[in-house]
Amino acid sequence: MTPDFFYGTAWKEERTAELTLLALRSGFRAIDTANQRRHYFEAGVGEALATALKEGIVTRDDLFIQTKFTSPAAQDHRLPFDAFAPVARQVNQSLTSSLKHLGVDVIDSFILHGPSSGYGWSEEDAATWRAMCAERDAGRTRLLGVSNISLDQLKALEAAGGERPAFVQNRCYARFGWDREVRAYCRRHNIVYQGFSILTANASVVRGPLVSAIAQRHKATNAQIIFRFMAGIGIVPLTGTSDAEHMRQDLAAKQFKLTAADLKALEALTS
Ligand SMILES: NC(=O)c1ccc[n+]([C@@H]2O[C@H](COP(=O)([O-])OP(=O)(O)OC[C@H]3O[C@@H](n4cnc5c(N)ncnc54)[C@H](OP(=O)(O)O)[C@@H]3O)[C@@H](O)[C@H]2O)c1
Repeated sequence: MTPDFFYGTAWKEERTAELTLLALRSGFRAIDTANQRRHYFEAGVGEALATALKEGIVTRDDLFIQTKFTSPAAQDHRLPFDAFAPVARQVNQSLTSSLKHLGVDVIDSFILHGPSSGYGWSEEDAATWRAMCAERDAGRTRLLGVSNISLDQLKALEAAGGERPAFVQNRCYARFGWDREVRAYCRRHNIVYQGFSILTANASVVRGPLVSAIAQRHKATNAQIIFRFMAGIGIVPLTGTSDAEHMRQDLAAKQFKLTAADLKALEALTS
C-alpha cells in the first residue's frame, strides 16, 4: 500500500504494543518505528503487528512497515549492532534485528535516521547509504529513505553518486515554510516527503486565528485542519498520539476539503 498517514511509535515505551495495536484497530496502516531503543521499542511494535495479523485486523499487504538505521552516536548503550563493526555490517545487523522484532522477512521502507552531522555528507554517510542500498537490492526492504536532512545534504548525497531516496522524513516547521526548500527538491525528484512534529513544533500556528477560523468553518478541530493541510501540500504526516479519540480525528481529517486559498494562506503562515 502507499502510505498517506503514519502512526509514529516513538516514546511509548511499555505502552508501545498496546498503542500500536490501538492505532491499527483505529485504521492506521502505515507504521513508523526505529531500531533505536533510546526512543523506540521496536519489539513492542512487532508484538502489535503479530496480534493484528493473528486477529485478522490487517493482512501483511494492508500494512506499510517502516523502520530506521540509527548510527552509534544517536544510540544509547542498547545497540542493535556491534559497536566495533564496519558500518555496512552495522546496517546489516540492525536490519536483521528489525526484521526479527517486526516478525517479517521484508519491510516496506528503511530510513537512515540522519546523516552523521548536521552539515555535509561524509564518507561515512555515503558508506551507510551504500550499505542500505545493498540491503534493498538483497530484497530486505522495498524502499529507502533519509531523515533529518537538509537541502544541501540531499544535493551532496546526489553529488557523491548516491541513489536518491524514495522518502525524506523531516521535522516540519511553519517558520521555515514547512520545510519549503526540501519539499521543492522532493517534488522535483518524485521523493515522498514525510513530516513529523507537525503539531508540537508549530503550537502557536496550530492554535492561531487562521487555523481556528478554517476549523470553525469546517466544524473540525485545529489539528484536523493541519493534517488535512499537510495532505493538500503533498506532505505525508506522522502522528504519535496516544489518545483513541485523537487517532479517530486525525484519520477523519481526510474528509475535509480545503480550498486553494486556504492552502495558500496556511502555507504562508510563519509563526
Ligand atoms: N525521524 C526522526 O528523527 C523523528 C523524530 C521525531 C519523531 N519521529 C516520528 O514521528 C512520530 C510523531 O512524532 P511527533 O514529534 O510528530 O509528535 P507526537 O509524538 O505525534 O506528539 C503529538 C503530540 O500532540 C498531541 N496532540 C494533541 N491533539 C492531537 C491530535 N488531534 N492528534 C495528534 N496529536 C495530538 C499529542 O497528545 P495526545 O497523545 O494526547 O494525543 C502529543 O502529545 C514519532 O512517533 C516518530 O515515529 C521521527
